[in-house]
Amino acid sequence: MAPAGALPLVELALEHLGGAVVTEHPPAVAEAIPVAVFLADKPDRARVVALLADAGVAVPEVTIEALPDMDWVAESQKALPPIQAGPFYVYGAHVTAPPPVASIPLLIDANAAFGTGRHESTRGCLVSLAALAEKRRVRRALDMGCGSGILAIAIAKLWGGSVLAVDNDERAVRVAAENARVNGVSSAIDARHGDGYRCPAVGADAPYDLIVENILADAICAMAPDLMRHLAPGGIAVLSGLLTEQADEVLAAHAPIRLKRQWRLDDWVTLVLEK
Ligand SMILES: C[S@@+](CC[C@H](N)C(=O)[O-])C[C@H]1O[C@@H](n2cnc3c(N)ncnc32)[C@H](O)[C@@H]1O
Repeated sequence: MAPAGALPLVELALEHLGGAVVTEHPPAVAEAIPVAVFLADKPDRARVVALLADAGVAVPEVTIEALPDMDWVAESQKALPPIQAGPFYVYGAHVTAPPPVASIPLLIDANAAFGTGRHESTRGCLVSLAALAEKRRVRRALDMGCGSGILAIAIAKLWGGSVLAVDNDERAVRVAAENARVNGVSSAIDARHGDGYRCPAVGADAPYDLIVENILADAICAMAPDLMRHLAPGGIAVLSGLLTEQADEVLAAHAPIRLKRQWRLDDWVTLVLEK
């Protein structure tokens, strides 16, 4: 049960486990809302609690139970219909219908990495990248906190340049590399394991025309000086994973880089900054 006010952060934290996050919205306003995540393997309780604590919420009651012997991941994936985010059509391997004509297909299965495209923070990045592609060229990009690699793949498909995709979770790096392969863009994407800008490949490939960070507000603020050092003059930063009320703090951390545009989706905001 998640406190209603903390629901967005609880859902965001649970997405890190992979699988499908399902929230039951009660018909009437409720103080506590049931949130379930369906996983192939039993999760480590300490990891679940740590993810919730890292998201800055009071840790709600956590119940872990085995479900009857079925392929629950396959079942839950069936419940994940394709989504459209701007020109992007994000779908899982269980979808057999061809992608709509003129869409940009992104084949991303719910897996052990954040980034099925369903979260508002990811969708905010996808629509802002598509809008940027109408006016800008990007040759070298950095996807910091790549998760499933969805944004790196979107960038490679929009611009065709090179993308460095970094995550501090080794499983996410493996998933991102595999997703790049199944989407036919592995030659454009270099997926690396590392802690933020301390990852040696980040400095080696700098400066970047585009840096995307969909992490959490605190981490984004802490990385701000590094982002500014690694972004080329005139370069663009797309920052997401922020609740609307955190936008000012994130902007202040990146001054004097200017806000160019912002995209709001429910409680979440994606900022587009220009150096
Ligand atoms: C919210 S997910 C975003 C995933 C994907 N980019 C998307 O937009 O859906 C944030 C990702 O950042 C990674 N991350 C968090 N802190 C990091 C750090 N210091 N260095 C690298 N990756 C980090 C997490 O492991 C996670 O995969």
